[in-house]
Amino acid sequence: MLKAKDLQGDYNLILDYALVVKRFSKKCIYAFVKTYGCQQNVSDGERMCGILERMGCIITDCEENADIIIINTCAIREHAQNKIFGHIGSLKRLKKQNPNLVIAVCGCMTEQKNEIQKIKESYPFVDLVFGTHSMNLFSKMLLDVFREKKRIFVSGSKDENIYEGFPVKRASKVKAFVPVMYGCDNFCSYCIVPYVRGRERSRKAEDILDETQKLLENGYKEIVFLGQNVNSYGKKLDEDIDFAQLLRRADNFGGEYRIRFMTSHPKDATKELIDTIAESKHICHNFHLPFQSGSDRILKAMNRKYTRDSYLDIIDYAKKRIKNLSLSSDIIVGFPGETYEEFQDTLSLVKQVRFTSLFTFIYSPRSGTPAALLPDPVPKKEKTRWLMQLLKVQDEISFEIHRNMLGKRFRVLVDHDLGDKSRFLGRTDGNLGIEIVEGGNFVGRFADAEVMDVIGRTLKGKIV
Ligand code: SAH
Ligand code: SF4
Ligand code: F3S
Repeated sequence: MLKAKDLQGDYNLILDYALVVKRFSKKCIYAFVKTYGCQQNVSDGERMCGILERMGCIITDCEENADIIIINTCAIREHAQNKIFGHIGSLKRLKKQNPNLVIAVCGCMTEQKNEIQKIKESYPFVDLVFGTHSMNLFSKMLLDVFREKKRIFVSGSKDENIYEGFPVKRASKVKAFVPVMYGCDNFCSYCIVPYVRGRERSRKAEDILDETQKLLENGYKEIVFLGQNVNSYGKKLDEDIDFAQLLRRADNFGGEYRIRFMTSHPKDATKELIDTIAESKHICHNFHLPFQSGSDRILKAMNRKYTRDSYLDIIDYAKKRIKNLSLSSDIIVGFPGETYEEFQDTLSLVKQVRFTSLFTFIYSPRSGTPAALLPDPVPKKEKTRWLMQLLKVQDEISFEIHRNMLGKRFRVLVDHDLGDKSRFLGRTDGNLGIEIVEGGNFVGRFADAEVMDVIGRTLKGKIV
């Protein structure tokens, strides 16, 4: 594990850069970072903001006034990628107005050769492109852009070291993301992540627990352990530790706080992990366990390595062991070759488990993945019809779960103000949001809230 200070003088470059900033005619350099995609990417974005701030920049929410714009991309589905290219295209106008503007594109999209080529050819106003494996060189690359005034492309690096000790500027003062592992070795046949994030590697437990302890000492109340497959944590580490053991150790700090984690893979969801959640003081009774499809044939084609029955077994065990368990999942509709009958297997699983919430996606072919080569005869319009059916079933379940909460009290962590200092968002242990409309401002604190009303998908409540 390398520490940031050991990075061949990388921190010195940061200081150097401060001198560069001084030499600019402007007093303040503003940097804007836009992150797309999952929480892992959000966490990377927070690290880039931390580095930019250490370099002497001011982080701004205003893209129009920025001197440096960083677009941190996601490649998970085509729709996400098209939206990002739309955003990058819109920056041409800003570059025209301010030729000194530095535009960088990074993240998962920029670990794909064809996307890099596209940026090279069609977006000449982008100055810097770097992939997820080159994040540790971020400050150096920016400095090179300033010094050399030429376009820089850094991608395809095989560096899979974990770099510790970078500064992080977190978006929230209440809830903090803590990556526990990076990359993915599962190669689900539809998924681009293993190609753009590289092989699975875990942070040392000591580093994770130190970071957690410091965050709690600094007043953070909720720690979210992140990874593409958190429950395979520790597999390649020298120390003998797995995810359940890591959670047990993270459960031992003092005071009131919460630990969440995502994402877990059903093939690695052990009874020991569920026992750990059930017996803990601080780990939320909330389990996000994506099943993707309820059909064994489709699960096999997806290379998911579990069956419908083994998934339901672990869910049953979790429901029995964990009090007031709230479940959520990811589903892909319309995997190549999926039939309507096979989609019905997904629907019946949703009805059987009764998830609190679902993240549902229509299959999107990703170039370079095995599934992209499969015949995909069902038209998009038909897949959309299936998705609508699924959403309708889940809406009814969610509504019933919400209605059952009416008049009851829940311990909530009040996350943030909803805009006008009179409404606040509190989250239950099960990760349900309650809009707090009475009882005062408890942002950053735990409180007991009573649910007063259910309006559509929104729960309204008061602090009691
Ligand atoms: N590592 C996590 C999820 C990562 S991606 C896991 O294994 O569960 C988040 C979700 O995006 C996935 O769970 C899947 O439902 C969806 N997804 C991934 N690739 C996709 C694709 N090509 N088309 C549609 N949805 C996809
Ligand atoms: Fe993608 Fe599968 Fe890895 Fe999740 S576990 S990131 S879906 S390959
Ligand atoms: Fe997207 Fe990369 Fe996350 S592809 S979902 S940002 S790991």
